[in-house]
Order: sequence, then structure tokens, then C-alpha cells
Amino acid sequence: MRIGCNELRAKIMSAEEAASFITSGSTVGLSGFTGSGYPKAVPLALAARIEAAHAAGDPFKVRVWTGASTGPELDGALAKADGIEFRLPYNSDPLVRDKINRGEMQYFDMHLSQVAPLAWQGFLGPLDTAVVEVSGIRPDGSLIPSSSVGNNKTWLDRAKQVILEVNAWQNDALEGMHDIYYGTALPPNRVPIPLVRPDDRIGQPYFRCDPGKVVAVVQTHAQDRNLPFSPPDEVAAGIAGHLLDFFAHEVKKGRLPASLLPLQSGVGNIANAVLAGLVDGPFENMTAYTEVIQDGMLDLMSCGKLRMASATAFSLSPEAAAALNADMHRYRDKMILRPQEISNHPELIRRLGCLAMNGLIEADIYGNVNSTHVMGSRIQNGIGGSGDFARNAYVSIFMTPSTAKGGKISAIVPMASHVDHITQDVQVIVTEQGLADLRGLSPKQRSKVIIENCAHPDYKPELVDYARRAAERSYGQHSPSMLNEALSWHQRFVETGSMLP
Ligand code: COA
Repeated sequence: MRIGCNELRAKIMSAEEAASFITSGSTVGLSGFTGSGYPKAVPLALAARIEAAHAAGDPFKVRVWTGASTGPELDGALAKADGIEFRLPYNSDPLVRDKINRGEMQYFDMHLSQVAPLAWQGFLGPLDTAVVEVSGIRPDGSLIPSSSVGNNKTWLDRAKQVILEVNAWQNDALEGMHDIYYGTALPPNRVPIPLVRPDDRIGQPYFRCDPGKVVAVVQTHAQDRNLPFSPPDEVAAGIAGHLLDFFAHEVKKGRLPASLLPLQSGVGNIANAVLAGLVDGPFENMTAYTEVIQDGMLDLMSCGKLRMASATAFSLSPEAAAALNADMHRYRDKMILRPQEISNHPELIRRLGCLAMNGLIEADIYGNVNSTHVMGSRIQNGIGGSGDFARNAYVSIFMTPSTAKGGKISAIVPMASHVDHITQDVQVIVTEQGLADLRGLSPKQRSKVIIENCAHPDYKPELVDYARRAAERSYGQHSPSMLNEALSWHQRFVETGSMLP
């Protein structure tokens, strides 16, 4: 029996009945992080309610807060119903992305570690309803978390009313895997977080939740839905190869231990391909202190090279999610899922010395990185945890194919059209062309090594030419640039569909 608490068992109802507690204009904090642990029935019922309201001429929209991206039954359904007025903190749903980029939805893209503190500080406004997927309810009303933790602890504590979805698809071996830390506080009462190793447990396995606040319990049996990863191609394998050589070099120099330092691997195909590359690499006994556990990490665990992983969620392809769910007992002692304010906490990332590996949209010749905006204005996903990790990592690495969209876009540009990570937070850039180690270099030195090692041959001569002319004509000589030309590549793409001359 997944629902062990009599008081809450009495509140079991349909998703439609539960959704009727959510009113137009209210703020809803939902569980969900990169396609795992999101509620799968109430948002669909809410979307149907919103559509019916719109058909009757009633405007009905809600403000949506989550952990990060969710699934089509949540973001996709609510966006299709035109029911989201405001969204935070991270999205990868294509329908939501379109609406944001058409100006039909407000989106507050923020560092994932800062969502819970901001909510507690009151800056985000009141939270009316929490809708949280759990894998079970214990007799005392405490909750067994699901396949992501995200901001659920905060939503459950802050919301005026709570709707629980108990998903029987989630493996009951998840119980005990989570570590929910209740020791965070607001200044001036903050204390050090007592975590010194990725495998430390500092909290409890369950969420506390006042049963009196729970207005509905909905039973579901539905698989987490994630997008499949693209199989690593030659480009991804090239990036992984350069990165592995770099790690081996750092170990040889004595700057990294033989088992490396806790790995943080970002979202997306390239990050996953790098993990796949580590399966054949020389490093053993590795650990991960990261945001999400992807397919590549499961493979690293299966082959015995990754000793344990700490994260806030799974981000698995449908096949890997089903495989993990079928074999959870094998993995459960090697994984810890924590609230995202802890998985992404700057204090802990700095203390542990994470090796941060994140994707990018574009980098400029001085090493400023754009992770979020295509052509300076269109949001792709969001900053996610990349800023939490990049600024505080032991080595902050960004990786990308050297071109995008079939070669029509260069990932290395004269000036980034938007900056998420300033050059001081970017220590290594790697493309399939090569790796630029930027540590200790001045802007001019950085520009030389980035162009030489990372740019695609189709764009390299133009970058060399730009840098040379900028050095002759620039207003200043610290980071030479030509303001009238620096973003001309982007303008050319917008006008012609290609950055190529
Ligand atoms: N211009 C236009 N589009 C670009 C681009 C550029 N310079 N660089 C990448 N893209 C597009 C790709 O074409 C692809 O589009 P598609 O889905 O339509 O094919 C999409 O972005 C994803 O790119 P891909 O090369 O497959 O890499 P990825 O899956 O590794 O994702 C990011 C790269 C930057 C989008 C992704 O890493 C991201 O969202 N990062 C920000 C959040 C983050 O780092 N989180 C991790 C913290 S723990």
C-alpha cells in the first residue's frame, strides 16, 4: 500500500477533482526536474479545465514554478492550453519555448540553486498550491520522494495547500535514496552546510508535510517521460577525447587525483557523450556531485568506474529510465538525491572541487559564454545550474561542437550575443577541433588559443582576421574589439540564414 496514512487516504480523489482546487491567477509550485518526478495527472486535468474556461470566454492562467524542465503532461499540456502566465526557473519544452519567444509568456530564467532561497525570502510572491509527485506516503504523513527532489521541500513547506500525486510506477526501492536537508536558513541565521564528501548524508530520507494542508491525494501509475539522447557521433566523441586527454594531463601534472574530483555533468547530448567517453577512459573510483544523473552515469556505474553519484534528479532516456526502474536495488546504495539548493549549492561545489562540464550555445574569442540565447534574443532552455557550477568549480569546462545548424553557425564568435558566464568563470573551452586551457591567460592570449584550438576551419580565417584588425583599430587594447563588426556575424545569420560570408 503506497498510502499508509489514514488521514491522507481519506483525501484520495480524481485528478479532475484535485485540479478544481487550483484557481485562475494563482501560483502553483510543481515537482519535476528534467523529465522526472513531475506530476502526471493533475496538470493534464488542469489544462482541460483551462481549455474549458477559455472556450466559455473566461481567461484562466496560472503562474508555474518547478524544479527545472518537466514533461509533456505538465509544461506541454499547460502551454497548449495557453494556461501559463509566468514560468520559472528552467524550461526545455518546445511549446513553452515558442510561447516565450513569441512574447506570449513571461519567463524568469534563474540559477537553480537560488530558487528555494528566493522563495523563502518572499521575492517570488506567495505560493498558493504545491502539486508534488511522491512515491509513497508513510503512516505518519511524511512523504517518500519520487525520481526527482528539486524544490519539493520548499514547495511543501511554503504552499498554502498541497496536492499529492502518488505514482505507483516509481520503484519502491527509491525509499531511502533521498537526503532531504532541513538545515538551511535565511541570513543572519545561516550556518555551514555539514557536507564534506559527495556521499555524505546530512538530512533525512523523507519530506515532512503537514497533513492538514493536503487537500487532495491522486493515485497515478505513469512512467517518467524523458527525451532520448542522440547516440554520440564523431563530433561528440572528438570532444570527449580532448577532455579525457586533458584530465589525464592534469593527473600527470599532479593537479588532479587519479580518481579525478567529483564530476558535474550538464544537460544535453554532448555532456552525455563525455560520460560515455569516460567508460573507456583510465579513471577509476570516480564520484559525481552533480545536478542530474544521465544515461552515461548509469553506464559508468555499471562498469564499476563511478563509485557513487549525488544529484537532485534522474535525467534518463526512456530506455534507461525503464532499465533503472527495473533494477533499482542494484543502484540504490550508490545514489543520493537531494534538494536542488543542496545539489547546486555554491558552498558545497567550491568545497568539493567539482569538475564542471557544461554545454554552450556560443563562446566569444575572450571566453565569455552564452548558454541560453540564440542570436542574443531567442531563449533555448535556460541557465539551469551551469552558473552555480561554473563559478564555483575546481575546473570550469564548457564544451560544444564548433558549429551548429549544419555549419551555418559558428560556436566561436567575435563577441557573444548574450553572456551567461563571464570570462573569469570559464577556464576551459573544448570543441571537436581541440581544447583551450584558459587558466592564467590574459584576454589577448585567450583569444589566440580559443581561435587556434577551438574554431572550425570554415570560420577560423575570419576570426584571425577580425582579431588582427581589432588589435589595430580598437578603442582599448585589453580586449580589442570593433563594436561595429563584433555582432555582424549574428546579423548576417538573421538576414541570410548563415554566418558564413
Ligand atoms: N546557435 C543556434 N542554435 C544552437 C547553437 C548556436 N550557436 N548551439 C546549439 N544550438 C542548438 C542546436 O542546434 C540544437 O538545436 P536542435 O535541438 O533544434 O537540434 C540545440 O541547441 C541543442 O544543441 P546540441 O548541440 O545538441 O547540444 P546540447 O544538447 O548539449 O545542448 C545547450 C546545448 C547549450 C542548449 C544545453 O547544454 C543547455 O541548455 N545548457 C544550459 C543549461 C545548462 O548548462 N545546464 C546544466 C547545468 S547542471
